[in-house]
Amino acid sequence: MVSSQRYVVRVEADVYTARHAAERLARTEGFARIAAQEVALITSELAWNIVRHAGRGTISFTLVIDPEHGPGLEIHAHDPAPPIADLALAQRDGHTAGGPIPHELMLRRRGIGSGLGAVARLGDRLLQRPDGAGKCLSVTRFLARPQR
Ligand SMILES: Nc1ncnc2c1ncn2[C@@H]1O[C@H](COP(=O)(O)OP(=O)(O)OP(=O)(O)O)[C@@H](O)[C@H]1O
Ligand SMILES: [Mg+2]
Repeated sequence: MVSSQRYVVRVEADVYTARHAAERLARTEGFARIAAQEVALITSELAWNIVRHAGRGTISFTLVIDPEHGPGLEIHAHDPAPPIADLALAQRDGHTAGGPIPHELMLRRRGIGSGLGAVARLGDRLLQRPDGAGKCLSVTRFLARPQR
């Protein structure tokens, strides 16, 4: 297991930087162009969630070799905000961590509650673990995607 760089995320420009780093790393590690863009999208959704829902945090990457699924890239999103109480609910499109976004609010709020849904679909594994008072969301994307 090899750890690489950690990217501080506070503002929108940091999302862009982390996204580019993700795409570059994925390409270096052998992901095809579209797959690397999907890794980048996972990263930007997690990073944008840090900016929006936690205020600050970090993105980092780990290369893994899973005994079952082989080589993969893990994207880690650390932040000091409390863990998402119901991650399964928060992953549903059109939902926040508190439940469905009311239709009238959907038109006014920034974000339609579909970021984590996309992350779950484009990643092969999504885990949350507490980290101090905060949390780390980790998404694994394997070079050869396992059947779902
Ligand atoms: N890092 C985080 N810290 C705390 N809560 C989070 C975090 N990331 C997501 N959430 C919660 O999970 C919900 C769903 O996240 P998701 O990314 O799917 O939607 P969104 O950020 O509200 O909108 P969108 O991603 O479509 O712009 C959020 O509305 C928020 O309640
Ligand atoms: Mg989001």
